[in-house]
Amino acid sequence: MELNITLLPGDGIGPEIIDQTEKILLTVAGKFGHTLFLERGLIGGAAIDAFEDPLPLETIERCRQSKAVCLGSVGGPKWDDLPSEKRPEKGLLKLRESLGLYANLRPAIIYEALKEASFLKPEIIGRGIDIMVIRELTGGIYFGRPRGIEYRQGEQVALNTMIYSESEIRRIAQTAFGIAQKRKKRVCSVDKANVLEVSRLWRTIVEQTAKDFPDCKLEHMYVDNAAMQLVKDPGQFDVLLTSNLFGDILSDEAATITGSIGLLPSASLCRSGPGVFEPVHGSAPDIAGQDKANPLGAILSLALMFRYAFSLETEARLIEEGVQEVLGRGYRTVDLTGNPEHLVSCSGMGDLIAAELNT
Ligand code: IPM
Ligand code: MG
Repeated sequence: MELNITLLPGDGIGPEIIDQTEKILLTVAGKFGHTLFLERGLIGGAAIDAFEDPLPLETIERCRQSKAVCLGSVGGPKWDDLPSEKRPEKGLLKLRESLGLYANLRPAIIYEALKEASFLKPEIIGRGIDIMVIRELTGGIYFGRPRGIEYRQGEQVALNTMIYSESEIRRIAQTAFGIAQKRKKRVCSVDKANVLEVSRLWRTIVEQTAKDFPDCKLEHMYVDNAAMQLVKDPGQFDVLLTSNLFGDILSDEAATITGSIGLLPSASLCRSGPGVFEPVHGSAPDIAGQDKANPLGAILSLALMFRYAFSLETEARLIEEGVQEVLGRGYRTVDLTGNPEHLVSCSGMGDLIAAELNT
């Protein structure tokens, strides 16, 4: 198959983890006889430095012409003082908006080999954790208007708008139920319907959508309770469906209870057009350039790319199993606790996974 892919390394540890992702991509393509068309583009701080723009038009065009985008991470202290329109994070938000990536899939799985790395008690994670967070990604308070900072009666006021239309809610709910059908068929929709009108509409539309998926069980949960239940009894969740802001918060929480946020992948998808595949973690400027970062979140995002962008399930599974195998043998990057004898660098981890895939 022809695989037309854009790599956007971004900032901080982004370039080093994308290098390892490329290594695995070349390995898998070689093994299965796929032809790779690889391009690289600039986003975030790297693009600000080169073009004074966190998402140059050239990058958007390049992404549009490919079938999938692998992104590293954006942001860092160097650009922290820039106005919000010019910050690296704006590049990521604009990319999501320009490509219409409304569905963000963030699977949080606890690997057997890493159970000891979770700070939850063994009796809590005993049931295992296998949650798919489905976060709405192009609406809600992240994009709602009006927004801004203005003067009212001699002082500054700042405002953002949380807004969802029926169609925005319906399409993300359809995504969530569609995915639940291939899993344990349980959807927990998270909102704040006891306070927010937008959540009440969310609930109504999710309930309507559920009627088209009679084999799935739907439950609603308030976001504050969901935050608590995630640490108290994470085994109860299968698919967790929620809005942009709540999903941002809950997906970090779900990620961290699995042991390390460094391991968690994500896929951002639209109806048709390229998807973006990126680790959930940030740019970790404190360890950038030291070959210490954990490349597994990016490498597992590559597995999601094979699954969702190219429907190549065998390739996706091979990568996922390779990661489990190498973790099972005890190898760890510095963010994961383990035997110091098995401590490996970012590129060392990439080499181990590549070697595993070649066996
Ligand atoms: C994420 C990040 C982004 C978000 C930031 C970097 C804009 O936290 O992907 O979860 O808030 O969506
Ligand atoms: Mg986040």
